[in-house]
Amino acid sequence: MKLPVKLLAGLTCAGLFWSALPTADLRADEEGEHSALHEIMEQMKDNLKRLGRSLAEPSDDLSDALHYISEMQRLALEAKQQQPNNLDEIPEDQRGEHVKSFRRDILGALQVMVELELAILDGQPEQALELLKGPLLSARKEGHKRYQKDEEH
Ligand code: HEM
Repeated sequence: MKLPVKLLAGLTCAGLFWSALPTADLRADEEGEHSALHEIMEQMKDNLKRLGRSLAEPSDDLSDALHYISEMQRLALEAKQQQPNNLDEIPEDQRGEHVKSFRRDILGALQVMVELELAILDGQPEQALELLKGPLLSARKEGHKRYQKDEEH
């Protein structure tokens, strides 16, 4: 069967529009796929690993370490716009506060990342590594305890 050109064009546009519609979060809800925050956190993990490695074997050229910490800061700024994935475990009247404190705690982690970058810029990779192993990993641990769904801890 031959379809009129106008009808075909219309169907194609509708298809394109529809395929652009669902966001990562909607897909996560409906199809059990990962949330936007989950994807951000996975990238955070990759950069953290690479950063740890480059600080443990520092060379004169710290540009790799600077790249990884910059990526982590960018990801933290993206993460703070998201919502924690344990909101449905929180009583409804406390959810606003929970989202705010999630945002505060991501900013706390970002503060450590800024300190860490300053140490790299000062040519102190050992100090940067201490900040990673201490305060940054604690921020991660606390963040996951408070904001990750129970079964994911
Ligand atoms: C260096 C810092 C961090 C790293 C490398 C990191 C890494 C990860 C990874 C790999 C996941 C997904 C896998 C898993 O379930 O374990 C995850 C999930 C999550 N993280 Fe982080 N994280 C960091 C800091 C934080 C902080 C500071 C918070 C909150 C203040 C946080 C909140 C969450 C939440 C709520 C999830 C669940 C997201 C979802 O699955 O929808 N994370 N994180």
